[in-house]
Amino acid sequence: MKKISLTGIKPTGDLHIGNYFGAIKPALELAKEYDARYFIADYHALNTMKNSKELNFTIRQVAAGWLACGLDPEKVIFYRQSSIPEVFELTAMLMAFTAKGLMNRAHAYKAAVQENTERGDDTDAGINMGLFTYPVLMAADIIIFDSDIVPVGRDQVQHIEMAQDMAQSVNANYGQQVLKVPQAGVQDNTAVVPGLDGRKMSKSYGNVIPLFASEKALHKTIMRITTNSQSVQEPKDPDTSQIFQLYKLFADESGQAALAERYRAGGMGWGEAKEELFSAVNRCLSPIRERYDAIMSDIPSLDRILKQGAEKARPIAAATVKRFRKAAGID
Ligand code: ADP
Ligand code: TRP
Repeated sequence: MKKISLTGIKPTGDLHIGNYFGAIKPALELAKEYDARYFIADYHALNTMKNSKELNFTIRQVAAGWLACGLDPEKVIFYRQSSIPEVFELTAMLMAFTAKGLMNRAHAYKAAVQENTERGDDTDAGINMGLFTYPVLMAADIIIFDSDIVPVGRDQVQHIEMAQDMAQSVNANYGQQVLKVPQAGVQDNTAVVPGLDGRKMSKSYGNVIPLFASEKALHKTIMRITTNSQSVQEPKDPDTSQIFQLYKLFADESGQAALAERYRAGGMGWGEAKEELFSAVNRCLSPIRERYDAIMSDIPSLDRILKQGAEKARPIAAATVKRFRKAAGID
């Protein structure tokens, strides 16, 4: 039997090229050898997104993004978390096996508490129970599909370890393998994609290159990349330039070597380096953007794909809940 790969993305905004190279592309690679289940974590987004129109739209944006990047819904079970009510039943059951102290140690919760403390606010100001119990819902997402491997960025590893903890507590309590214990699939070669300002590209830093911006908007964004004050004539070090780090993601080895040579030779200003980057990014993203625009212009078809995915997913989810209920004496 093939092993199962599962991952989810929160629909909290426009996808950017960090999401593509860090999450979507590696997950689609894994889908070639694993049975893949990829989903839109819309209940996770609800913790922070309270504008209904916006959330409704970003759910479709992220779904269309996966498809435009090459997800084949015939091969990958592709669905919305909110379409699988069994996930929330499993969440309730896992709650009974999750120490509150474990949640107190979750990085995202701790970071929110620390921000409050630094600001002199009440420690729990603005923190809802969705954020506090986030790792339990995420564990249910994973465990419900008997996942073997969960491709995620390094920041998510703690959540997978917590899911392992929960599955192991259940198995230990009932003295049998009720739930499969998942593993994190962090890819060492997935570089952290730098943003316009050189920090990690992230929505929360406002330094992203969106995956589906129009050509004009893409050009404008790339021209905003911060640079140092080196003159056109000065030789430049490609290895310390985020323009070149971004270029590497879009060019083959000979293209990279040729441009690196021009950096080192001098005579190429940052403006020209950005134009080279723009051409490479635009060439690579144009077909993806066209597919994305076509998918977004037909939301009913997109919703149908997600619904069909949910129909395939639900029986698998129901079987896990049934197994757990039986072990627990609630059958
Ligand atoms: P953001 O930081 O923009 O809010 P998310 O936390 O929603 O992005 O990330 C969704 C997925 O994309 C995660 O798996 C994450 O590891 C990956 N990812 C996000 N930004 C980057 C980046 N700059 N480089 C590599 N991977 C990234
Ligand atoms: N927490 C993940 C993130 O912020 C998204 C997510 C929710 C997820 N449920 C998941 C990822 C299950 C992998 C598996 O990026």
